[in-house]
Amino acid sequence: MRMSFSSQRWLRVVLIILLALAVLLAVALAWALPAPLPAISSEIAARQPDPEHGRYLAVAGDCNACHTQPGGAFFAGGRALATPLGAVYSTNITPDPDHGIGRYTLPEFIRLMRQGVARDGRRIYPAMPYTAYAKVKDADLQDILAYLQHGVRPVAKADRGSDIPWPLSIRWPIAFWNKAFLDDRRFKPDLTRGPVWNRGAELVQGLGHCGTCHTPRGLAFQEKAVTNSSDLYLSGAELDGQSAANLRGNDWTGLKRSTPADIVQLLKTGRNRHRSVAGQMAEVVEFSTQHMRDADLFAIATYLKSLSAASRQSGRFVANDVTARQLESGHLPNRGARIYIDSCAACHRYNGQGAGLTIPNLAGNSAVLHNSPDTILSVILGGARLPSTAGEPSRTAMPAYYWRYPDKDIAELATFVRNAWGNRAPAVSEDQVKDSRKLVLERVRQQH
Ligand code: HEC
Ligand code: HEC
Ligand code: HEC
Repeated sequence: MRMSFSSQRWLRVVLIILLALAVLLAVALAWALPAPLPAISSEIAARQPDPEHGRYLAVAGDCNACHTQPGGAFFAGGRALATPLGAVYSTNITPDPDHGIGRYTLPEFIRLMRQGVARDGRRIYPAMPYTAYAKVKDADLQDILAYLQHGVRPVAKADRGSDIPWPLSIRWPIAFWNKAFLDDRRFKPDLTRGPVWNRGAELVQGLGHCGTCHTPRGLAFQEKAVTNSSDLYLSGAELDGQSAANLRGNDWTGLKRSTPADIVQLLKTGRNRHRSVAGQMAEVVEFSTQHMRDADLFAIATYLKSLSAASRQSGRFVANDVTARQLESGHLPNRGARIYIDSCAACHRYNGQGAGLTIPNLAGNSAVLHNSPDTILSVILGGARLPSTAGEPSRTAMPAYYWRYPDKDIAELATFVRNAWGNRAPAVSEDQVKDSRKLVLERVRQQH
C-alpha cells in the first residue's frame, strides 16, 4: 500500500511519541526500581540474636493473623486478604528453604520488612503491612528473623499467587507507590516525652501496625498519616464492612472517656465497661494483644491517650432516661423501638446498658456513635462473637438478624439505637443497609 506524505508524517510523530514514552518509563523505572540491600552496622553484625524475644515481637506484630490460614499449619501462609483489586494470599514464612524463608539473610529480611521487596526482588503488595514494620529497629528485626528461622517448624507448602487480574497484577508499579507513599525511616523517639510514651508510640506505629486499620486511606489506598503528624492518624477508617474505631481523644467516638486501665482491659480481653470488640479487632486481641506484657499495653494506652481529638466525628451522648421509660411503659416512639423490644432488649435491656462485661452497653458506645454505621450494621446483620482470652474466656455471642428483617426495618432499628438513651448519631439509610448486607452475606457464605 502506498502511503501519502501526511500519513507517513503522522506515523513518524506517533513513533516519536511512543519512543519518548518508552524512554520516560525507562528513566522512571531506573529511578524507582533499585532497592539495594541495607547495610548492617558492625554492632548488629556482632550481636547475638535472641529468638525468644523475636517470638514475643512476632506476637506483637500479629504475623499469625495473616500468615496462618484458619485450620492450616502455623505460619505456612495461604490466608486470603481482600484488596480492592482482588484477593492476595499471605506467604509461607516457616524456615522451609524452598517454600518458606529459610534462605533469607538478615539484610534481605530487613529490606523485605521495610520496603516490601522479597529475596528474589519481587515487589510485595502493601497488604503486608511493611509501611508500619518499616519503623521497627534492626535489632528487633534480627530477633524476629532468628525466631522464624530457628523457632518455627518448617512446612513444605508452596505459595499461591493472587486473584488480581493481569495487567493489574504486574508488581513493578508498586515501586512507584513506595516512592510516593512509603516512609521507611525508623521510629524516632520524641525526647520531650517519657520512655513509656515512646515505647507505646514505637509499638503502635511499628510492629502493632494499628494505623493500617485505624487510619483513613486516600485514593491510592495509602494511609493518610503514619505518625501523629496529622489528626487523621488513628482517627478511624472503613474496613470491609466494619469501621475501625477512632482511637484519638474525641469525647464519645474516641478514647477520651477511657482510662489507660480501660484500654489495657480492652486489649487484654476484648471488652471493657464502655464497649466490646468484634470481627477484625477481636482477632487482633485473640492473636496478639492479649499475649502482650501489661507494661507494653500500658505504654500503648499512654500513647493513645496523648492523641488530640480528630475533627471529623460528630456522634454525641448526653445520658437521659427517656428511652428506657418509653420502652418500659410500652409507649414506643417508632418502629425501630418496637424491633428493639422484640429482638434486642432481652440482652441489652431497656436501659441499653447490657450486663457487665458479657453484654456490651449500647448507651454512649463508641461503636454505635461512630460516624459510619458500618460496625453497628455488620453486628446486627451478621452477629458477633466476643474474643476468648485468658482473662475473659467466655465467647458470648450475639445472633445474626440478616434473615429476620428487611433493609427498611434494619435501617429504622439502627437509627433508633443510634439515637436512644441520649445517643446522637446520624440516621442510617436503607441503601447503607443494602451495602452492608451484601458484605455480610458474602462473609456468611464463606464461613459455610
Ligand atoms: C495484614 C496481614 C499481614 C500481616 C499482619 C503480616 N503479613 Fe507478612 N505478608 C502478608 C502478605 C499478604 C504477603 C504476601 C504479599 C504478596 O504476595 O505480595 C506477606 C509476605 C511476607 C513475607 C515475604 C515472604 C516471601 O515470600 O519472600 C515475609 C517474610 C513476611 N510477610 C513476614 C511477616 C512477618 C515477620 C510478620 C509479623 C511481624 C508479618 N509478615 C505480618 C500479609 C501480612
Ligand atoms: C485488622 C485491623 C485492625 C488492627 C490491625 C487494629 N485494630 Fe483496633 N479495631 C479494629 C476494628 C474494626 C475495631 C472496631 C471493632 C468493633 O467495633 O467491634 C477496633 C477497635 C479498637 C479499639 C476500641 C476503641 C474504643 O472506642 O474503645 C481499640 C482501643 C483498638 N482497636 C486499639 C488497637 C490498637 C492499639 C491496635 C494496634 C496494636 C489495633 N487496634 C489494631 C481493627 C483493627
Ligand atoms: C443473645 C443476646 C443478644 C441479643 C438478643 C442481641 N445482642 Fe447485641 N450483642 C450481644 C453481645 C454478646 C455482643 C458483643 C459481641 C462482640 O462484641 O463480639 C453484642 C454486641 C452488640 C453491638 C456492638 C457493641 C460493641 O460494643 O461493639 C451492637 C450495636 C448490638 N449488639 C446491638 C444489638 C441489637 C440492635 C440487637 C437486636 C437486633 C441485639 N444487639 C441483640 C448480645 C446480644
